[in-house]
Amino acid sequence: MQPVEVKKGIYWVGAVDWNVRDFHGYSTLKGSTYNAYLAMDEKITLFDTVKKPFADDLVCNISRIVDPRKIDYLVVNHVEMDHSGAVPEIIDLVQPEKVFCSAMGKRTLIDHYHREDWPFEVVETGQTLSLGSKTVQFIETRMLHWPDSMFSYLEEDRLLISSDAFGEHWATSQRFDDEVNMDELFSHAAKYYANILLLYSPLVQKLLANVQKMGLEIDMIAPDHGLIWRTHPGKIIEAYVAWSKQKARDKAVIIYDTMYQATEKMALAIADGLVQEGVEVKILNLKLSHRSEVITEVLDAKAILLGSPTLNNGIMPTVADILCYMKGLRPVDKIGFAFGSYGWSGEAVKVMTQALEEMKVKIMDGGLRVKFTPTHDDFMKCAELGRKVGQEIKNQG
Ligand code: FEO
Repeated sequence: MQPVEVKKGIYWVGAVDWNVRDFHGYSTLKGSTYNAYLAMDEKITLFDTVKKPFADDLVCNISRIVDPRKIDYLVVNHVEMDHSGAVPEIIDLVQPEKVFCSAMGKRTLIDHYHREDWPFEVVETGQTLSLGSKTVQFIETRMLHWPDSMFSYLEEDRLLISSDAFGEHWATSQRFDDEVNMDELFSHAAKYYANILLLYSPLVQKLLANVQKMGLEIDMIAPDHGLIWRTHPGKIIEAYVAWSKQKARDKAVIIYDTMYQATEKMALAIADGLVQEGVEVKILNLKLSHRSEVITEVLDAKAILLGSPTLNNGIMPTVADILCYMKGLRPVDKIGFAFGSYGWSGEAVKVMTQALEEMKVKIMDGGLRVKFTPTHDDFMKCAELGRKVGQEIKNQG
């Protein structure tokens, strides 16, 4: 992909990864991009790099604008290797006068690349840097989502280079939000939030409040993944406000695995009860639904209903996987229960209920167990509990 001018004298020079399908457990079904930005000024400055295998793409893109050896400054907003993997190669090539990063960024760069001799310049929130006609203001965003993370705000251009925040994993030939389908864009952004930032929601709220207090006028948001918010920066900020407050809809997710379809039939009967109360239901069979799709559905749901047959005195491995993933991402304010079939020992419902309680899910009625094959009465009980959860969802308003 060629460089694209995003603001006068500021270029996207990153790389598009059409083939990546897994990001440490997050399914990136439509690839990703590693965005880097080059500001042409008296001090030519590169903001972030790319994943190591894409270093050549970055160098090639920069070379179409300027000889990379003329770059004066490198800003490392975030050290995770999808953005800093090419830092050693770039520093060797460019020999920058200074490498700007947060204090934790310096420490983390040294821990990754073991080069204490790089010309680090540690910056903190509020500190500014003049590039000539452009001024960069740094904003530390500690734990959003790493301790080293920060934003760079170009004051005259009202451009926020936002590292991982406001991004999506979506490989496209387009670079701007107004060039793609908005519904698809927001579905990728929601998935990104649910899988990367959900557990930091209280910090996201604080950061958004701080940015507002600092009075930054944001005309454009340029994240390190996905599309640049040229036309709708306000809409993605609004979405982050809602997601960080974990605002939920009248929606329940039924997440399950099944051996001989008994637990699956229970799931469908529970769904019937919910639908009777006018609640939207998503039914997710864990053999067919990736954990990162599941957590995206959980993001705006009020109820989590979890099903597994008993296997080896416990739960199905897929259910253990989603519980581990969900627990780490810390969804809040959910109601739910566990259900499942069993043959003789029947521990699954107890194990899942305990796990849901640890996640502070408000348990409705203690759960549902069925021996081997559900009867008509069992289906009626499933539907009844579905209705009860549906009523509770509606009562929450
Ligand atoms: Fe896209 Fe936290 O790296």
